[in-house]
Amino acid sequence: MTSRVAVRTRALTKEFRGFRAVDAVDLEVREGSVHALVGPNGAGKTTLFNLLTGFVAPTSGAITVFDEDVTGEPPERVARRGVARSFQITSLFETLTSREHVELALAGRTGRGFRFWRSEKLLGRERPRVDALLAEVGLAPLADKPVGLLAYGQKRALELSLVLALDPRVMLLDEPTAGMGTEDVDRTIDLVRRIAAGRTVVLVDHNMHVVGSLADRVTVLQQGRVLAEGRYDEVRVDERVITAYLGRAEHA
Ligand SMILES: Nc1ncnc2c1ncn2[C@@H]1O[C@H](COP(=O)(O)OP(=O)(O)OP(=O)(O)O)[C@@H](O)[C@H]1O
Ligand SMILES: [Mg+2]
Repeated sequence: MTSRVAVRTRALTKEFRGFRAVDAVDLEVREGSVHALVGPNGAGKTTLFNLLTGFVAPTSGAITVFDEDVTGEPPERVARRGVARSFQITSLFETLTSREHVELALAGRTGRGFRFWRSEKLLGRERPRVDALLAEVGLAPLADKPVGLLAYGQKRALELSLVLALDPRVMLLDEPTAGMGTEDVDRTIDLVRRIAAGRTVVLVDHNMHVVGSLADRVTVLQQGRVLAEGRYDEVRVDERVITAYLGRAEHA
């Protein structure tokens, strides 16, 4: 492959009071790829996301985004470089509508915040973009309902639209199908595939059907270290991966 490297880590390490949650990880995410991070609970996947987005500062090691060093940069600086993430735990406002969530995400992106949101709301200038984002995740018909009335799968779709609102070059999705039934899982696979076009996606998911459907490349973490890496069809037959993770995951 000749594409550029979107995100690279070198010997990236995060210790919490001497415990290595992420331990000397070398990761290379190619531009335009969907790169999955998998591994058992506590393997360090979310911590790695926190490191890549500046929410957590590394103990040692380095991170580059399109060859620029971002090591130790705070979240807003990393975000300005085009890296955006979703969270493992849902964090929406039940009384606001989907439309208002997307408007707020767009207002946040401009850095002008809440007052800008109020003025934009009155002027309606962002409306076409808001409509397009809601349509992209299938929420157009529900745009003006309070989020508290949405089904779980719809809330997760809304969260994806909030990441998309930042128009990121690199999207980090932490368990986008967590807690979903089969139907929502398949809908989310289609959605992620669509929004991944022209973007780089790093995806954490425990569902191997999701990983197998979406990922060009898979990195398997165990106890903070890279256990294996390759295409899905390579890592899924890797004995170490089966022992450490898949054996459990597929019969869970
Ligand atoms: N802020 C923190 N302080 C102390 N320990 C932490 C902190 N954050 C994470 N850890 C520990 O680091 C390890 C890795 O956690 P992490 O959340 O990254 O795992 P994960 O791979 O995302 O797991 P899961 O699949 O359950 O989401 C765990 O042992 C966790 O308890
Ligand atoms: Mg996690």
